[in-house]
Amino acid sequence: MRSLLFLSLVSTSLALQLPFKVPFFQSTSPQEDDEPVRGTPRVAIIGAGAAGSSAAFWISKAQERFGVDVEVDVYEKTSHIGGRSLTIYPHDNDTFKPVELGASIFVKANRNLWRAVKEFNLTLQDYSDEGNDLGIWDGEQLLLNLPGNRWWDTLKVLWRYGVMSPRRSNSLVANMLKQYSTLYTIDSPKWENITDLAHSLGWTNLIENTGADFFTSNGVSRQYVFELLEAATRVNYGQNIDSIHALEAACSIAADGASQVEGGNWQIFDRFLNHSGANIYKDTKVSRITQKQSSKSRQWVVHSDKGSTGYKAVIIAAPFHQSNIELPTALASQIPKQPYVHLHVTFLTTTSPSLNPEYLALSPNEKAPSMVLTTYEGARQGRKAPEFNSISYHGKVSEDEWGVKIFSEAPIEDKWLESMFNNQVTWVHRAEFDAYPKLPPTSSFPPVMLDRGLYYVNAFEPFISTMETETLASRNVVDLLLNEEFSSSICGPRISASTKETAPVDANFVFGWDC
Ligand SMILES: Cc1cc2nc3c(=O)[nH]c(=O)nc-3n(C[C@H](O)[C@H](O)[C@H](O)COP(=O)(O)OP(=O)(O)OC[C@H]3O[C@@H](n4cnc5c(N)ncnc54)[C@H](O)[C@@H]3O)c2cc1C
Ligand SMILES: *[C@@H]1O[C@H](CO)[C@@H](O)[C@H](O)[C@H]1NC(C)=O
Ligand SMILES: *[C@@H]1O[C@H](CO)[C@@H](O)[C@H](O)[C@H]1NC(C)=O
Ligand SMILES: *[C@@H]1O[C@H](CO)[C@@H](O)[C@H](O)[C@H]1NC(C)=O
Ligand SMILES: *[C@@H]1O[C@H](CO)[C@@H](O)[C@H](O)[C@H]1NC(C)=O
Repeated sequence: MRSLLFLSLVSTSLALQLPFKVPFFQSTSPQEDDEPVRGTPRVAIIGAGAAGSSAAFWISKAQERFGVDVEVDVYEKTSHIGGRSLTIYPHDNDTFKPVELGASIFVKANRNLWRAVKEFNLTLQDYSDEGNDLGIWDGEQLLLNLPGNRWWDTLKVLWRYGVMSPRRSNSLVANMLKQYSTLYTIDSPKWENITDLAHSLGWTNLIENTGADFFTSNGVSRQYVFELLEAATRVNYGQNIDSIHALEAACSIAADGASQVEGGNWQIFDRFLNHSGANIYKDTKVSRITQKQSSKSRQWVVHSDKGSTGYKAVIIAAPFHQSNIELPTALASQIPKQPYVHLHVTFLTTTSPSLNPEYLALSPNEKAPSMVLTTYEGARQGRKAPEFNSISYHGKVSEDEWGVKIFSEAPIEDKWLESMFNNQVTWVHRAEFDAYPKLPPTSSFPPVMLDRGLYYVNAFEPFISTMETETLASRNVVDLLLNEEFSSSICGPRISASTKETAPVDANFVFGWDC
């Protein structure tokens, strides 16, 4: 069961759409100096999360392979590398093992992260080792309670949902993953338009329908969809199965090999930057990007609290509306307002080995499951909605203390915690995130390229929002940029048309790493 829940990822070969033609916008800041660009061309990357750090890494691959002459500056407004991937120490004490507060897991299908871990000698930790017992809570009762991962738990699942629904659901996800895996082949599409990418991958149905409509119309029972699949979309994306698009719903349940990096996933992004040779400007917030154009040259000017610098190209690698970057109106207006799920993450330590069974409407001597996921099904039928999206025990932090993480839409009060953990809470850390986009069915996405030399990685997020897909989106953006501005690419002197006959068959081949 456990392996069904959680994230992973995702694809078809498509003929490359070359050459890349995009509309041009006129300069909007003619008052700037007209100096021609001299010396080594520079590229700016804004944001040092999964997207920005990997963008720097991909550029360095082209420098290494083809001697592309470029200097890269990465701007990060915080002192932290990794963005929404970050860890904390229980009790704020670094003698404890750090725990993930934001992006926690990735799966084997996530080949860039998987590969990076190997290349950088980081250590993977199997997430499913945590051995959680699963329950699904509807706000008033546990619809499913699988305390032990024993044979009768399997029977319980079969009894409740039958054989066909899990099987059909798994096969729909497997088809999606098969398509997804083509994004790592030498024939991977390069895209300027995410809608077109979705079409070429055969995912039109997945983006244009809710998870609920897609799975039920493909023969998965309503009960399975609104209980199990919804539990997965709620824990992974804080959204219900009848409001999230089917692609992200399918990603929520593709979970084979769920893992994390020992010591924190952010280390992958730190290593990307270290290996890239880029200049890193931490604690440096970008406030504005303007354009400077003369008859001889065209430059983007990045304004930060450390001054203004001209660039040949700029990569925006943060959610645009949260970044507070001011862009010329003609460019900013291309990016539709994108609401994000505002998520409360509560991490606590407790000496209580399990949740209060009474809260979960169990009898006092029954053991509560150590991972409680939720469904909105009760609320749809007029009952009470769950007060949280998920609660999970994450193993011991010390001899007699466990670490527990709660995701919720509203803040979780101390009083509630005391009752849920039998008055045995020893430490609490609360954090809030604009965690992931709200992902209703759609057929339009923000542009990947806002203008010549100005790229937007996080256009990908309303399509799929994960650490891995941000590294795929950045790979694509870097290929477009290198092609347009440097007549190069990550894997060749230019983005080449299909090379089917030379396509390697090695199953471990990862495009961009192995070329
Ligand atoms: C609680 C939580 C759980 C999640 N769970 C998972 C999971 O299990 N697996 C998974 O794959 N994904 C998960 N995600 C989603 C994942 O975190 C994101 O999809 C991914 O990390 C986004 O990376 P990014 O680099 O695009 O953006 P970010 O990580 O947001 O990085 C953007 C960076 O840009 C910086 N920045 C912003 N504005 C400016 C500016 N004006 N100037 C300079 N710098 C700026 C920010 O400080 C930040 O460091 C989770 C997210 C949250 C919040
Ligand atoms: C950190 O925890 C260790 C025990 O794990 C303890 O000995 C030490 O005093 C703690 N440090 C602080 C600053 O509390
Ligand atoms: C990883 O370890 C191998 C073998 O010990 C070593 O050859 C390699 O240089 C290391 N890589 C990094 C990035 O440290
Ligand atoms: C990576 O670089 C940072 C400085 O930007 C440094 O603190 C960190 O130790 C480096 N990591 C490695 C593995 O070199
Ligand atoms: C992407 O292409 C579709 C047609 O397939 C078009 O309707 C849409 O406007 C394009 N999006 C962008 C951002 O250019």
